[in-house]
Amino acid sequence: MSDIEHRGPAAPAPLEWEYAPAPEARDIVSFRERYGLYIGGELVDPRSGEWFTTTSPADESPLAEVAQASGEDVDLAVAAARAAYEDGWSSLRPAERAKYLFRIARILQERSRELAVAESLDGGKPIKESRDVDLPLAAAHFFYHAGWADKLEYAFPNRTPRPLGVAGQIIPWNFPLLMLAWKVAPALACGNTVVLKPAETTPLTALMFADVCRQAELPAGVVNIVTGDGSTGAELVRNEGLDKVAFTGSTEVGKAIQRELAGRGIPLTLELGGKAANIVFDDCALDQAVEGIVNGIYFNQGHVCCAGSRLLVQESIAEQLIGKLKRRLQTLRVGDPLDKNTDVGAINSRAQLEKIRELVASGEADGAEIYQPPCVLPERGYWFAPTVFTNVAQSSRIATEEIFGPVLSVLTFRTPDEAVEKANNTPYGLSAGVWTEKGSRILWMASRLRAGVVWANTFNRFDPASPFGGYKESGFGREGGRHGLEAYLRFGG
Ligand code: NAI
Ligand code: MG
Repeated sequence: MSDIEHRGPAAPAPLEWEYAPAPEARDIVSFRERYGLYIGGELVDPRSGEWFTTTSPADESPLAEVAQASGEDVDLAVAAARAAYEDGWSSLRPAERAKYLFRIARILQERSRELAVAESLDGGKPIKESRDVDLPLAAAHFFYHAGWADKLEYAFPNRTPRPLGVAGQIIPWNFPLLMLAWKVAPALACGNTVVLKPAETTPLTALMFADVCRQAELPAGVVNIVTGDGSTGAELVRNEGLDKVAFTGSTEVGKAIQRELAGRGIPLTLELGGKAANIVFDDCALDQAVEGIVNGIYFNQGHVCCAGSRLLVQESIAEQLIGKLKRRLQTLRVGDPLDKNTDVGAINSRAQLEKIRELVASGEADGAEIYQPPCVLPERGYWFAPTVFTNVAQSSRIATEEIFGPVLSVLTFRTPDEAVEKANNTPYGLSAGVWTEKGSRILWMASRLRAGVVWANTFNRFDPASPFGGYKESGFGREGGRHGLEAYLRFGG
């Protein structure tokens, strides 16, 4: 027909298209050989004398040495935070506090490319996600809370909001800098000082954030960063000098922290695991739903507490939807996190990879049917192919436990009542998704789903103004919005 058909080789089928490599520049970031602890505005060597190496999960190469903080180091950090709190931060004019937060927000934007590359190197997430999600949201969180710093009296009229004091904050490895922002921005906006412990596999952007604080001329000791593994976190929680604890991570550790704080009268917020239902009705826009399902579970390798890890699909469209989903999976590109075309990066650690493998094996043993698209995984590093399980029993571990990897379990339902019952049949309650064209059904579902966030015809949407948090074993307390400020304030007096 057209001339084009007669020229050159026949066009390959879409699935055979080769992408040219599109690597982001690795050399925009240069790590130090060694990072000490950030205490009182300085990077200092740990009293413990111990160091560990953080690596890139994509190829297991070492990136930098980081301090393993002991109880003594944690004491020093808490003392520095206390001194900064007493010596001015808590009594600083709120508009001045706002000024520092605005500065931090702007510096995060200015250095976003460097920080995004660092995040992808240290944690394995695709650069397009750290660049387009983690960094913009982290900056947005500081901008948003900068705006509140001098308006707390308006946020809580007639309640006389006051800061709590020194906050101990422990964050996980799935959104390292973003979780730092979720913790640090509201704490500072409300006049508190902080000691933050990043996760042991992803400490580097927190240590670069220390440099951002210095660049912003934030008074020494307002932000302190202690690196180390779970034992450092436990030392922080045990420290008698804290006025507030905030934790994001596993339900198991959240429970241990709650036990440790019992009777100490310290306010606590816990943001823990999830097993979200993504519920698809037969009247939805099917292709949009497929995109939402993919985004819901394969975004960030499924290392997302609110991931849509249980797909509940209405029986009448199950076959068609699963067919479309499998086809879409074939187009996901798994590989180098620094390649701009990569959709699914590396699994964060060997331990997490082993946990995923173990749960997937249990799903197969339970008789669920596994599907993985053909894809070549790199030889070095930690990788797991995007996976869908069908014929999943309600009681199977893959339907009840958090896998925290790129693994979707598909279940079916017939009626809205059954969908609600199955969705709520979990110890968790962090998020849920509903796909339908009927607004009334969205509201009907949202009022019945026991989940902190319910997304309708979309998934994994975040905004600093919107509170986020869970029910039941997903934790308590909210982050973001006016509700999130409340976690860093006391009222009256
Ligand atoms: P984890 O809960 O052990 O790690 C989270 C943070 O807590 C890290 O900074 C860690 O060093 C610290 N920590 C560990 N033990 C502690 C203790 N006893 N006291 C105080 N802090 C402590 O989570 P892990 O082992 O890395 O992952 C295990 C599972 O937890 C994952 O497979 C996933 O299911 C879930 N998880 C959920 C997250 C979420 O966003 N809600 C984030 C990370 C993990
Ligand atoms: Mg690492």
